[in-house]
Amino acid sequence: MKPSKNGQKSATPREPEIVVGLDIGTTKVTAVVGEVDAAGAITILGVGNVPCRGLVKGVVSNIDWTVRSIHEAVEAAQQMAGVEIRTVYAGVAGSHVRSIPSDGVAAVSGGEVQRADVERVLEGARAIPIDADRQILHVLPREFIVDAQDGIRDPVGMSGVRLQTRVNLITAATSCVQNVVRCAERCGLTVADVVLEPLASAEAVLNDDEKELGVVVIDMGGGTTDVLLCVDGAIAHSTVIPAGGNNVTSDIATGLRTPRAEAERLKRNFGCALGRMVADDDEIEVPSVGGHAPRRVARRVLSDIIEPRVEEIFAVVRKRLEDTGLLEQLSAGAVLTGGGVLLEGLPQVAEEILGMPVRVGYPVGVSGLHSLVNAPQFATGVGLVRYGAQSLLSAQQAASARDTSPRTQQPREPDDAPVDGPRGNKFLDWLRAAF
Ligand SMILES: Nc1ncnc2c1ncn2[C@@H]1O[C@H](COP(=O)(O)OP(=O)(O)OP(=O)(O)O)[C@@H](O)[C@H]1O
Ligand SMILES: [Mg+2]
Repeated sequence: MKPSKNGQKSATPREPEIVVGLDIGTTKVTAVVGEVDAAGAITILGVGNVPCRGLVKGVVSNIDWTVRSIHEAVEAAQQMAGVEIRTVYAGVAGSHVRSIPSDGVAAVSGGEVQRADVERVLEGARAIPIDADRQILHVLPREFIVDAQDGIRDPVGMSGVRLQTRVNLITAATSCVQNVVRCAERCGLTVADVVLEPLASAEAVLNDDEKELGVVVIDMGGGTTDVLLCVDGAIAHSTVIPAGGNNVTSDIATGLRTPRAEAERLKRNFGCALGRMVADDDEIEVPSVGGHAPRRVARRVLSDIIEPRVEEIFAVVRKRLEDTGLLEQLSAGAVLTGGGVLLEGLPQVAEEILGMPVRVGYPVGVSGLHSLVNAPQFATGVGLVRYGAQSLLSAQQAASARDTSPRTQQPREPDDAPVDGPRGNKFLDWLRAAF
């Protein structure tokens, strides 16, 4: 295995690169190490996955605990992969994240749309007033319009005099983003980019047909349920619901008067989100608190506690989808991912409440140690590697285009660009390739 150090640009763009995704979740931190070849194929070399208690509802609330978990996860991943991890693509989530529609317009110089025109129109689209304590995380183009022709995904090379774009701006609370970066930096890591977690999850679990047809990705983690809509091959909206699998566990602990750890075990081993799937005579043993003897309880009682909470979460998802006005355009239905969707019967409840076909999304598009990440809770980690891989390839392609074409010469983005700096253009590259 090549002992490469990630984060260092290779001398030739053809050398494989190491890309690391760092998913800092409410219940666990996962570091996924991928090797990316010149064609963009990703081989998973190592994974580190450790529990984390430093976050509340997707947001860092205890720096020390989070740092410790990141350190352990990265240590485990680099031991398995046999590489030194220096740079990571980190995920960010939480209900502070907002999706705002915006648009931009620019004159086309020279009668043919150049990459520089696209960059200018995207810069224009991001020039809207946002609160001082917030920052733009992504500029997601939905479509470009050249003169009267709309619905264009990549306008470069088209003839016209006026270029317009419709985008979604993803904004986040600067303090929340900075806390993620700070935690990684305290572990000696450099954050190459901060990525909206459901965007990464979508990248890992969706196929091209679903992106074209219209689909919603629902990542149900421990603390949050992240929702991302993809319509006509572009990201149309994203929203975060501050509830997830941990709420189900809390309900069980309270309802059955059992310790939280036992509630979690009961949920995973015997829980079912759909009461009618449980046989009436099934029984489970429930440990008690305060030294009392364990009790035998009908398994149906457990699902009677779980079902309303799961219904409530998906009713909120449904309402948020209705509010976007895009519900009718989700022809491919919903793809559920995140550890929370491993609950038995949950896909059935989701299908009934959302009123659309549902499947559980596992990370795809990677080889190597794929079996270690072949579960819904690793969608974000794998997606971050795929996002990072695409960013690297786009940067390499842009660099070689600059070398060969004087028309596309652009000032090179410095390698140490701040993580909260403009990244709409980089994202455009990724989006073009991915969607
Ligand atoms: N087999 C299972 N059955 C039911 N629930 C499960 C199972 N495995 C994991 N979960 C639940 O999945 C949740 C954790 O999912 P995940 O690892 O995706 O969350 P996270 O990324 O840490 O959190 P978040 O994305 O909300 O910040 C927990 O609530 C856990 O109880
Ligand atoms: Mg998560």
